[in-house]
Amino acid sequence: MSAVQHSTRVGIIGGGPAGLMLSHLLSCAGIENLVVEARDRDTIHHTHRAGILEAGSVAMLRDTGVDGRIDTLGDEHSGIDLRFGGESHLLDFRERVDATVTLYAQNEVFLDLSLARERDGGEVYYEATVSELFDVTSARPGFAFTDKEGARHEVRADLIVGADGSRSFTRRWIPEAERTNYTMEYPFAWFGILTEAPKSSPELIYARSDRGFALISQRSETVQRMYFQCSPETSAEDWSEERIWDELQARVAGPDGLELKTGPIFDKTVLPFRSFVRAPLRHGNLFLAGDAGHTVPPTGAKGLNLAFADVKVLFEAIDSWNGAGSRALLDAYSDTALKRVWKAQHFSYWMTSMLHTRADATPFEHARTLGELESVVSSEHGKRYLAEAYTGWPHA
Ligand code: DHB
Repeated sequence: MSAVQHSTRVGIIGGGPAGLMLSHLLSCAGIENLVVEARDRDTIHHTHRAGILEAGSVAMLRDTGVDGRIDTLGDEHSGIDLRFGGESHLLDFRERVDATVTLYAQNEVFLDLSLARERDGGEVYYEATVSELFDVTSARPGFAFTDKEGARHEVRADLIVGADGSRSFTRRWIPEAERTNYTMEYPFAWFGILTEAPKSSPELIYARSDRGFALISQRSETVQRMYFQCSPETSAEDWSEERIWDELQARVAGPDGLELKTGPIFDKTVLPFRSFVRAPLRHGNLFLAGDAGHTVPPTGAKGLNLAFADVKVLFEAIDSWNGAGSRALLDAYSDTALKRVWKAQHFSYWMTSMLHTRADATPFEHARTLGELESVVSSEHGKRYLAEAYTGWPHA
């Protein structure tokens, strides 16, 4: 059986938030593109991920007409509560860097983008498996995929973008001799829950306790998201609701008597994590964006924001090449994007190491970390740095 042939300008592998945002921006600029995604829409929409959007990410959704559930469902936050030694330290972002973040779940961002692509006639194939890439260093690279009915397709484009997530298939096409992997493993994971309960506090609580880290986040007035540090070998089924609440409560306990508001837990997941960068983010006419090129640990919620920042840089490079015919911005893409990636790697690593506990930590290391937290909350400069990084550096 012969393959269905497609000819387009930009072939995008991966239809999560990064791939769909790029496709949306390109289509708005009149640049033809096609997206293929391995999963079905429902699976992506029901995969729970982080929920904090930097102001720059919110602007990308709002200013490009993705359309507005974020305006009604998003919850703007102007600070976080850093809690350690049983005491809360409220850190106000607006006061320091005149910026806020918006709590809006990543799976809702996906849904909005996917509906916007449908509304605008975007060409997106879900449940489509890419089997190989061709000629990525040539002027007409391509890839082959099988659609959900089992038919084979071949795509030829000017550029191929790999936005296919942390287990990226596409990134293999950057030859081993030309790439460097930077990896950092952590001896812990996060246990994440969704619960039907009211908010426990107005702001998100990032808590370090002797028992490990806990994050008290939110989804709405009636649904809350919480996480606690656990071993990567933890199995979610071994944890009863009672045990989960006891552990979360113990990690935020303090002389102020902070009590979490509890309710039925309807989702439990263990999320392993690591820091990872593959450089460069480009080989010939193949470009990587988002998790395909780098992963951050979740503390500080930089993953999606970083993916959107890549997409912005890449879109502007493609648009400039399309309009002015210059490849200068495309040639600079990897270096430009990696500058922000490494800043975010540092921030995510720093927040993670400062707030989590390690079984092998010496008493010195444990006390030093409390000193580090104290240095942040007692210093205007420390708080400013955290506020600036958390709300997101301006886009390049
Ligand atoms: C959430 C996740 C994070 O990693 C974070 O730093 C803040 C919030 C969340 O899922 O709500």
